Amino acid sequence: LGNGLATTPQMGWNSWNFFKCDIHEDVIKETADALITTGLAKLGYNYVNIDDCWSEPTRNSEGKMVPDSKAFPSGIKALADYVHSKGLKLGIYSDAGLFTCQVRPGSLKHEYDDATLFASWGIDYLKYDNCFNLGIEPEERYPPMRDALNATGRTIFYSLCEWGVNDPALWAGRIGNSWRTTDDIEDTWESMTAIADINDKWAAYAGPGGWNDPDMLEVGNGGMTYQEYRAHFSIWALMKAPLLIGCDVRNMTPETYEILTNEEVIGVDQDPLGVQGRKVHTYGPDGCYQVWAGPLTGQRYVVALWNRCSKPATITAEWAAIGLESSASYSVRDLWKHEYASLNSRTSFSAQIDAHACEMYILAPVASVRAAA
Ligand code: GLA
Repeated sequence: LGNGLATTPQMGWNSWNFFKCDIHEDVIKETADALITTGLAKLGYNYVNIDDCWSEPTRNSEGKMVPDSKAFPSGIKALADYVHSKGLKLGIYSDAGLFTCQVRPGSLKHEYDDATLFASWGIDYLKYDNCFNLGIEPEERYPPMRDALNATGRTIFYSLCEWGVNDPALWAGRIGNSWRTTDDIEDTWESMTAIADINDKWAAYAGPGGWNDPDMLEVGNGGMTYQEYRAHFSIWALMKAPLLIGCDVRNMTPETYEILTNEEVIGVDQDPLGVQGRKVHTYGPDGCYQVWAGPLTGQRYVVALWNRCSKPATITAEWAAIGLESSASYSVRDLWKHEYASLNSRTSFSAQIDAHACEMYILAPVASVRAAA
C-alpha cells in the first residue's frame, strides 16, 4: 500500500466490542481522556476509533454522510480536534457496500466523496466493513477506497474488514494496512481460541506495512477469566495483531489494566522485525499443550507455552521446534512475572502452566545479554 503507516501493528481503542451502537461524543472524549490519564497512550495506544452507528441512516440532500445528531451533536470535526489536542488520532468506520452492518450509509460508489469528507474532518484511520456488498468481489470493492484515501493527501490508516472471506492475506497487502482474517470475535474462550487458530494460518503474509487482523481485544469485557484474557493478549501480541482495546477504559479493573499495560508483551507486538509468531508444536490430550513462537530483533525469540486443557500441565518447548541452535545458551525472561527464569535443560524449556493460562518468555542468546550489560 505504501502510505508509510503500520510499520508495526496499530494500537488504540475501538468502540464496538463494548459499546456497540450505544456511542456518544462524550464517551469518545472521555475515552481519549482516559487513554491519557491511565498511561495507555504513552504505551502506544494512540488511535481512538469510532465503529458503526456514528452516522444518520441517510445521506443529506447533497449526498453527504451526516453524523447522528443525537450521538455527535458537535460533529466529527470538533471531535477530531479534541482528540488531536490530546496528541491522539481519530478513526472512523464505513462499509464497502450499500450500507454498514447496522444499516447506515455505506461508501460503495461514494469512495471519493466520503474519503474527502473524512479527510476534511481530520480523520486518521478508516475501518472498512463488508456488509450489503451486492455480491461484488472484495478484490474489486476495496481498492477504490485505497485510491480515494490516497487522493485526499491526508495520511489515513486503511483497515480492511472483509472477515477473511476471500483469503485477504493473499491480496490485501497491496490494498490495506491490515485485514481481518476471521469473523467477529466474541467475548468467550471458544471464540478467542478459534480465531487465534485461523489467524495463525496466514502468518507468512504479515509484515511491516500490512498485518493480519484477528479482530479487536475483548480483554476487560467480562466473558473470560483473568488467565484467559492474559492468554488472549499474549497470543495477539505474539501474532503481531493490531492491539485495539475493546473495553471501557474509563472503568478498568486492576487485572484488566495489568494485562493491557504489560510493556514487555506490548514490546513483542511492536518488535520492529515484524515477523508473526506461529503455533510451532502441539501435543497432549487433543493437542491442547501448545507452543507458539517466533523470531524477534537481536536474535531473540518469543515463546508462549499455552495450556488449552482444563487441568494444569507441564509444557515443554524444544529448541528444535522453535528453530534455536542447541549449542547456544539462552537467557529466559518471563514477560508476566517480569523476572528471569532459570533454564532447566540445554535443549528445551519447561514450565508448569495453569489451565487455560499462557506464559510468555523471551529467549535471548547469552552472549548478547552480556554485550548489552
Ligand atoms: C461487522 C464487523 C465488526 C463491527 C460490526 C459493526 O460485524 O466485523 O467488527 O464493525 O460490523 O456493525
